[in-house]
Amino acid sequence: MNDSISSDSDIIACMKDISVVYGDFAALYEINLDIHKGDFIGICGPNGSGKTTLLKTMMGLVQPIAGKMILYGQEITDNFPTYIKFRIGYVPQITNIDRNFPALVKDVVEMGRYAKAGLGRRITRTDKQKAMEALQLVDMEHSAERPIGHLSGGQQQRVLIAQALAAEAEVLLLDEFTSALDFRMTEDIMELLDYLNYTHKITIITVGHNIEILRAYCNRIICINKVIAFDGDPKDSELDKAIIKIFH
Ligand SMILES: Nc1ncnc2c1ncn2[C@@H]1O[C@H](COP(=O)(O)OP(=O)(O)O)[C@@H](O)[C@H]1O
Ligand SMILES: [Mg+2]
Repeated sequence: MNDSISSDSDIIACMKDISVVYGDFAALYEINLDIHKGDFIGICGPNGSGKTTLLKTMMGLVQPIAGKMILYGQEITDNFPTYIKFRIGYVPQITNIDRNFPALVKDVVEMGRYAKAGLGRRITRTDKQKAMEALQLVDMEHSAERPIGHLSGGQQQRVLIAQALAAEAEVLLLDEFTSALDFRMTEDIMELLDYLNYTHKITIITVGHNIEILRAYCNRIICINKVIAFDGDPKDSELDKAIIKIFH
């Protein structure tokens, strides 16, 4: 796997024997993972297998009961230090943004800047510039002045990616963003993620249920079912075995 070609300094996140429980129910059990800078990871697994919990653990939104979480070389105990938090950008799923929602595209992206700097601070010229640069990265700068509700689902998803990039995220976490999009739009967003990964070295971790799509774009697939059932190359034939095992 990637370990042979990456040095320790490339490791963004490291989970060591992480277990997460809700009440007395174990959602994740002894998870060991290294996330390297530049990874383009597809996470798959049946419903309730702990995919969202895994992303939440990376964002510090759930606390493991056992194990260690190391981000950028620093062990995280409870609160994530702010300077680390915004390096990891969560991209919300678009779920029926109201057609009449008054925010303009540029406002939504500038919210990424507020999130980073703290509400109550005035937006500066630099913030506006960063927001515009992020919109350019996702090829949506032409729609900066349009209401977000007027865009297609795929375009809205691009704007939400720009919001995370405006906060200067180095890692993008996406949770089943494809559920709200048709196949063509899904491919379009995967192409964008591929571009951000390849050209801008943005690390991508995307949860998806379409394994063929994940295989086509990702350079690493993780199958989970509470435990890690597979972690490796999409072309590895062990992946097929793992998929059969966890989905049937
Ligand atoms: N806040 C919660 N309280 C109790 N159980 C939860 C909570 N969140 C998730 N779970 C349970 O943990 C398991 C894993 O959930 P989740 O990580 O959302 O799975 P996935 O994203 O793979 O569908 C599921 O059985 C789910 O019902
Ligand atoms: Mg989920």
